[in-house]
Amino acid sequence: MITTIATTPIEGQKPGTSGLRKKTRVFRTPGYLENFVQSIWNGIGGLQGKTLVVGGDGRFFNADAVQIIIKMAVAARAAKVIVGQDGLLSTPAASNLIRLRGADGGVILSASHNPGGLDGDFGVKFNTANGGPAPESVTDAIFKATTTITTYQIAESPDIDLSSVGTIHLGDTVVELVDPVSDYAALMEQLFDFNAIRALMAGGFRLRFDAMHAVTGPYAREILVNRLGAPEDCVMNAVPLPDFGGGHPDPNPVWAHELMAVMMADDAPDFGAASDGDGDRNMIVGRGVYVTPSDSLAVIAANAHLAPGYDKGLAGVARSMPTSCALDRVAQACGLDCYATPTGWKFFGNLLDTGRATLCGEESAGTGSDHIREKDGLWAVLMWLNILAHKRCPVADVMAAHWREFGRDYYSRHDYEEVDAAAAQELITDLRARLDALAGQDFGPLTVTQAEDFSYLDPVDGSVTVHQGLQIHFKQGARLVLRLSGTGTAGATLRVYMERYATGPEGLTQDAQSALAPVIAATDALSDLKTRLGREAPDVVT
Ligand code: G6P
Ligand code: ZN
Repeated sequence: MITTIATTPIEGQKPGTSGLRKKTRVFRTPGYLENFVQSIWNGIGGLQGKTLVVGGDGRFFNADAVQIIIKMAVAARAAKVIVGQDGLLSTPAASNLIRLRGADGGVILSASHNPGGLDGDFGVKFNTANGGPAPESVTDAIFKATTTITTYQIAESPDIDLSSVGTIHLGDTVVELVDPVSDYAALMEQLFDFNAIRALMAGGFRLRFDAMHAVTGPYAREILVNRLGAPEDCVMNAVPLPDFGGGHPDPNPVWAHELMAVMMADDAPDFGAASDGDGDRNMIVGRGVYVTPSDSLAVIAANAHLAPGYDKGLAGVARSMPTSCALDRVAQACGLDCYATPTGWKFFGNLLDTGRATLCGEESAGTGSDHIREKDGLWAVLMWLNILAHKRCPVADVMAAHWREFGRDYYSRHDYEEVDAAAAQELITDLRARLDALAGQDFGPLTVTQAEDFSYLDPVDGSVTVHQGLQIHFKQGARLVLRLSGTGTAGATLRVYMERYATGPEGLTQDAQSALAPVIAATDALSDLKTRLGREAPDVVT
């Protein structure tokens, strides 16, 4: 019942920052998904006798893709395929399941925070046995396999009923359908003080979680409502939909504006949070106050010991290079090692595996720890609830106290989306060529002290990753980073990350965009980006 089908390489199947991400219509062209999945099997030395976890964020084409992957895993003679019921698994739940069940890897179907639907995006990520995104050595091998593929194999069997848990035998393979939530919820109960959070809720604390019609709805209901006693209506947009209700499931103030409106109103709840398409990102909002992902990471680093899973302290911390230096200030005060890695969660894997870092985070709304090998949206929400359950004060007060102690890193990211790819690349290439000459020069009101083309030497495996963003430091305690996104599916997206430090006690309560005005001015003077990109203003400011 196994069919071998002749095929030829399809161009452009190179995994980016987070797996292979393309327009859904591209993924639905006959053979496109099959070619890539076969190349995963080929790139990892075959699937025979191995155990694989499969699930996705429920976006359009998710269930069809799950059926194809199961049939191809059967054809490749996998020993076991563990599949989330209805084909659903959040990215953190998949990471947990890989680790818990000792699987050899997992295929996660998601384009994360990108819109879904027939005209939206789809994606396929491969995670390795540690539960984390495949490192570049593996994605390179997979990509190489896509360029030489000649056949793929698929089992000719009827579709599996994905709707109920249980075990099915297909050829040499056992297909096990599991509840996508329960193991993950059990892990959260181990890490956090659920009693303290329950008591907080019982005391009238009001919370709002926006699942953005993406995968976290069922997870949030089980954990926040069933296990922690929050009222049912605290989860908004709780039902996962194939097109995310037409929304853009990216938890930032721009796309989660519905939640932002609730949190900025006079009668706002005490705490608001949102997660993205596949449940690995988070946004934290207090009543009337948005917490940047970089600040959230720093606050968590300073307070993680309040949660039972972290009461022995942190081994070390890590952030992606463009993430603000707020984390470094906490690390320095607490005597912790602090690593700066390229953008992409996969770069944290070795630090977590070898116990060098316990806590990691990125400006792109990702925070997580060594409990799994992915960033984890609900984990961050529960960590905040655990902290608030102990501090018993508003989020705004937590932030004010944090800034008084460590100073404040004003931070913002300006995104220029779907710009002309050649113009964006040229901007980066030209600036890269000028970096060495920048030190000492003035741009707008700022003076450059140091400029570099960021590269990373992994302290564990010695691998070097180059060209990970242009980083420019200024004398006035400011920093600018320019890099091209690795997750887009159309044109190019230029990300401009800006940061400026205020030591306090004065000047800790400015508006971020005003506080960053000198860096914005310096960026224009330095890169001429408006002219080069033909854009007056960024598309998204977070
Ligand atoms: C994904 C990755 C993150 C990364 C983010 C931004 O969410 O998992 O690790 O920070 O994409 O990537 P980009 O290349 O678009 O800036
Ligand atoms: Zn995501």
